[in-house]
Amino acid sequence: MFSAPFAATFDWSSGVLRGDTVHRSSKTLGQMRGLFRHGATSALPDDTLLYSVQWVAPGTPQAAGALLFGCTHLEPGRVGDEYFMTHGHFHALSSRAEFYLPVSGSGVLLLMTRGGETWAEEMLPGKVLHIDGAHAHRAVNTGAEPLVFWACWPADAGYDYATIAERGFGLRVVEHKGRTVLADQQQ
Ligand code: 6PG
Ligand code: NI
Repeated sequence: MFSAPFAATFDWSSGVLRGDTVHRSSKTLGQMRGLFRHGATSALPDDTLLYSVQWVAPGTPQAAGALLFGCTHLEPGRVGDEYFMTHGHFHALSSRAEFYLPVSGSGVLLLMTRGGETWAEEMLPGKVLHIDGAHAHRAVNTGAEPLVFWACWPADAGYDYATIAERGFGLRVVEHKGRTVLADQQQ
């Protein structure tokens, strides 16, 4: 048995995926206000684009061991002092790891255990970031350009967004006196 022909291309200069099977989703501030410390009082409009994701499911995504890959374009900007970020999630299956490969721009990857222990890794082109399946992950754009990163993950990883929506991450990435710093969640 042969799997379906696979005809996607990825442009490493623009971070754009092309092909018959490319899906796309996006998130606006209106969908994520509650995740930012000063989201409720920010004057930025609800339709402010925070990020878009393109992804591809090669072959048969429901087959055991299938992989997906995609690319996220995270816009530059801040809500108050807090940099634009992805929602962030745990994989529903904690054994399902992931790779992030920054393509352009600069930022921070926040990682967190189920117990709330949180730390940060730099996102810069050329770095290969391995995300343990048990760790929540959130990308933060601390630069002036879009932060673009390619990712690959198991098709059956699944998403737990609710835990992040309820508890957030243990650290926030904020601008303070012209510098990028990590702040405790409540600061
Ligand atoms: C995944 C990846 C990645 C992620 C996007 C958007 O598991 O699919 O981690 O593609 O979904 O960067 O981030 P959120 O899913 O947290 O909105
Ligand atoms: Ni993920």
